[in-house]
Amino acid sequence: MAAKIGIASDHAGKELKQLVADFVRLKNFEVIDYGVSMESDKSVDYPDYAAILATDISTGKIEQGILICGTGIGMSITANKFPGVRAAIVTDEFTARMCRAHNDANVICLGSRVLNPHRATEFVNIWLDTKFEGNRHKTRLDKIRDIERKLCNK
Ligand code: RB5
Repeated sequence: MAAKIGIASDHAGKELKQLVADFVRLKNFEVIDYGVSMESDKSVDYPDYAAILATDISTGKIEQGILICGTGIGMSITANKFPGVRAAIVTDEFTARMCRAHNDANVICLGSRVLNPHRATEFVNIWLDTKFEGNRHKTRLDKIRDIERKLCNK
């Protein structure tokens, strides 16, 4: 069974979302598209789309996700409110690799007004192909989990 990957964007990111979704399908992932729909011509609010994808990551329904808005910033701010979500804005090959190798980012955030589409798909490719290094980096992620548990009282 193909691994599932979620993808969502606001109006600013919908063209790049379609391109990235096609690319990820070529890598044999099952893509769950949380919107916004290509057919929509409305301006929408990025927190709505970040939240539905981040909820599914946080509850374990899916393991990985891609969020796209104009800058990637609004999506990352929203997604990182959800326990267990580690969302990283990726701007180059190095951050694409390191956000997985050291931070085990389960969501990457892309800025459609920052990146050209070819580079954006290349960053997704690097992130998907990179392995988490564990060891001392796992200790650090456990500390983030502890902070979340304290803040959420669970
Ligand atoms: C929408 O105009 C824009 O603000 C949004 O896509 C994003 O860049 C927010 O962080």
